[in-house]
Order: sequence, then structure tokens, then C-alpha cells
Amino acid sequence: MTLHVLAFAGSLRKDSFNHRLIGVCQGLAPEGMTLEAYRLNDIPVFNQDDEDPPPAPVAAFKAKILAADALLIISPEYNWGMTGVLKNALDWGSRPQGANSWAGKPVAICGASPGYLGTVKSQLMLRQVCWALDMKVLPKPELIIPAIHEKFDESGNFTDERIKGQLKKMLEGLMSLAALGGSASS
Ligand code: FNR
Repeated sequence: MTLHVLAFAGSLRKDSFNHRLIGVCQGLAPEGMTLEAYRLNDIPVFNQDDEDPPPAPVAAFKAKILAADALLIISPEYNWGMTGVLKNALDWGSRPQGANSWAGKPVAICGASPGYLGTVKSQLMLRQVCWALDMKVLPKPELIIPAIHEKFDESGNFTDERIKGQLKKMLEGLMSLAALGGSASS
């Protein structure tokens, strides 16, 4: 059995720290977990007039969500909230009515910021929205990654061993949560 995890960041920035953390997680994934990095750059701004059928990039995104056994969202905080990019993607995935692609998906959440409290507030908001979308949210560890700009060396390697341990714990927790729901693909 392999647990296929779809991972995406709430930032479109080419050198997004949060997107780079997905790569770190790929290196830490427990045995039996595959982690696919996905970028939200092709997802248009939500317009309810266009939700049924959705535009092709959205249909492709919804298919990816449905095919995944679990999700990993690593997102920055913008102005004390989740980024518009992330909320936009969550809204698309929830529509049209009766076709909520998120329902039942186990999800792990974390986020990084150059600041010291970065993503605390956005993660609270994100958890609330994930519950509203009927996702199974991994409660702990609550992983807030501060001073992210100091945690990659010049070669791009992630250097904080403590955070690496927490990321590993989070991925193992996601695996256990998914196993409870029996959603791993064969
Ligand atoms: C930010 N940033 C930010 N950081 C934070 O910790 N709390 C915040 O409320 C905000 N607000 C905010 C608003 C906007 C519009 C921008 C562009 C940025 C800083 C943010 O954490 C920083 O730019 C990160 O590097 C963004 O994440 P990525 O793109 O590196 O993944």
C-alpha cells in the first residue's frame, strides 16, 4: 500500500520558501508515502459563473485532489490571514455544489515566514476552512516555522534539524490519520 500525498503551497513565488519546504518534506517522507509537489500558478481567479464546468486547469486540479489519498498544505501568511491564492484554490476545489473534491481528505498543515510568529494566524484560519470543507485535519504537531530565510544554506539545503524532526513527525501523523480512514491506494 502506498499513500499518495498531493502537496501545494499558498504562494506562487518562484523561490517561495513554503514551496521549497515541500521539497524538504519529499526527502523526509516515511516509507510507503509518495509526495507530489503541485503548483497553483495556473488556477484562475474564482468566478461562480465559470464553476460548472470549471476551466481546464481547475478540472485538472480537482482530478489531482480526488486521486490523492491525503493532502499537505504549506502556506505563508499574508496580512494575518491565509493567502488569496490558497483561499482561491480551496474555493475552486469545493465547487460546484455537490462536487466538493476536498471532502474526507486527510490534510496536514504547516507554514513558514521570515518573521517570528509567521503563519500562526493564517493557520488558524486555514484549519477552520478545512473543517468547513469536510477535510480531516491533522491536529498536531502545530508546525509554525519562523525565520525561514535563515534556514536554507547557500546550496539550498534545509539546515534546521529540529524543524526537520517536526516535519517528519507531521508526515508520520498524516500517514496514521489516513490509515484510520483507510484511504491509501494499492
Ligand atoms: C507578507 N508577509 C507576512 N509575513 C507574516 O509572517 N505575517 C504576515 O501577515 C505577512 N503579510 C504579508 C503580506 C503580503 C502581501 C506579503 C507579500 C508578504 C511576509 C511573507 O511571510 C514572506 O514574503 C514570505 O517569504 C512569503 O512566503 P513565500 O512566498 O516565501 O513562500
